[in-house]
Amino acid sequence: MRLLVLGGTVFLSRAVAVEAIGRGHDVTCASRGESGSVPAGAAFVAWDRSDGAEPPVELARASYDAVVDVARHPSRVRAAVAAFPEAHWVFVSTINVYADTSTPNGNPETLSLHDPIVTDEDPASASEVYGAMKVGCEQAVTEGAASSIVVRPGLIVGPGDPTGRFTYWAARIADGGEVLAPGEPNDAVQVVDVRDLATWLVDCAEARTTGVFDGIGPVQTRAELLAAVATGIGAEPTFVWVNQEFLTDQKVEPWAGDRSAPLWLPLPEYAGLMVHDATLPADAGLRCRPVEDTARDTLAWLREHPDAKVTGMSRPEEAELLAAFSRTGPRP
Ligand SMILES: NC(=O)c1ccc[n+]([C@@H]2O[C@H](COP(=O)([O-])OP(=O)(O)OC[C@H]3O[C@@H](n4cnc5c(N)ncnc54)[C@H](OP(=O)(O)O)[C@@H]3O)[C@@H](O)[C@H]2O)c1
Repeated sequence: MRLLVLGGTVFLSRAVAVEAIGRGHDVTCASRGESGSVPAGAAFVAWDRSDGAEPPVELARASYDAVVDVARHPSRVRAAVAAFPEAHWVFVSTINVYADTSTPNGNPETLSLHDPIVTDEDPASASEVYGAMKVGCEQAVTEGAASSIVVRPGLIVGPGDPTGRFTYWAARIADGGEVLAPGEPNDAVQVVDVRDLATWLVDCAEARTTGVFDGIGPVQTRAELLAAVATGIGAEPTFVWVNQEFLTDQKVEPWAGDRSAPLWLPLPEYAGLMVHDATLPADAGLRCRPVEDTARDTLAWLREHPDAKVTGMSRPEEAELLAAFSRTGPRP
C-alpha cells in the first residue's frame, strides 16, 4: 500500500507511520517537520498546510492508496482531499465533535454533534471550537473523498504523549506515598493506547473500512485505572480519594493544566465524555492492550525523555490539598 500520512512527526500520526512501515508499506509523511522527525523508513515531504495551501508538486504528482490525516483546520483538510480524492481517507477526528458530553454509553448514531465550523479558527481557544472545526473537517472528507472512515478518538495515551495527562499518573504513582485520587473510585474513565489506535487505523487503511466510529478502549472505573497504573509500574501507593465538591472548593482544575487533577471531569455535565460505547470499535477490529502495559511503557518513555510534558498539580499543591482534606474531611 502507498500510504500518505499527513503529519508523522509526533504521537499518533507518527505511530501510524511506524506501524505501516513495520508492515512493509510504502509510507510518505507530509508536514512542516517542526514537531519532530518522521520515523526511519518513511519518506518526508515538507508541506506547510496553513490556510489550505496546496501540496507541493512532488506530492501532487504522486498517487496514494490511502491517506491518514489528523488535521484540525477545515481548509487544510479540504485542500488535501481535493488533491487526493481517489485515495481511501482515514480521518482522525475526536469525541469533542459531540455536543452531548453528559450522556454515557453514546456512539456516533446516538450523540448529537456540534454545528460545523468550516472556517479556520484557533482550535485551542475552546474545546467546542476544536470539536466544531473537526465536524467541518469530517464533512470535507466524507463529501470529497471517494471512500473514507472517520475515527473519533477519546483520550489517547501512551509513550510520546505531548499532552502529559496520563503521563501525570504514571509519574505521580511511581513516586509512591499518599496519592490524591480525584472524584470517586467508581467514576468511569476510558482511554486508548496510541499504538493500539495506530494499529487499527492502519488496518482500516488496508481494508478500506468505511463509516464513522469512536476510537476508544473499554470503560473502567477510575480505581481500576489507577490500580492498573500502579501494577504496571510496580508501585504501591496509597490512594486518598478526594471528592469533587472538595476539589471544586479548592479550585482544582479538571482534566489538564496548572493545579489540575488530570483525567478528572466534573459530573454530571461530563458523565458521557469518557464513557463511550466501546463495543462498536472493538467489533470493527480495535484491540486494546492492558493499561498496565501502557503505564509501564509511558513511564519508561518519560524516564528516557525527562523534559516531556507532564501536566497537573505540583507535588506541593497535592500535599497542601491532602493536608486540607484530612483536616476538614470530604465536603458533603
Ligand atoms: N491526544 C488526544 O488525547 C486526542 C484525543 C482525541 C482526538 N485526538 C486527535 O488525534 C490526533 C492526534 O494527532 P497527532 O498525535 O499526530 O498530533 P497532532 O498534534 O494533531 O499532529 C499534528 C501533525 O500535523 C502536523 N502539522 C501541524 N501543523 C501543520 C501545518 N501547518 N502544516 C502541515 N502539517 C502540520 C504536525 O507536524 P509539524 O508540526 O512537524 O508540521 C504533526 O505531525 C489529532 O487529530 C487530534 O485531534 C487527540
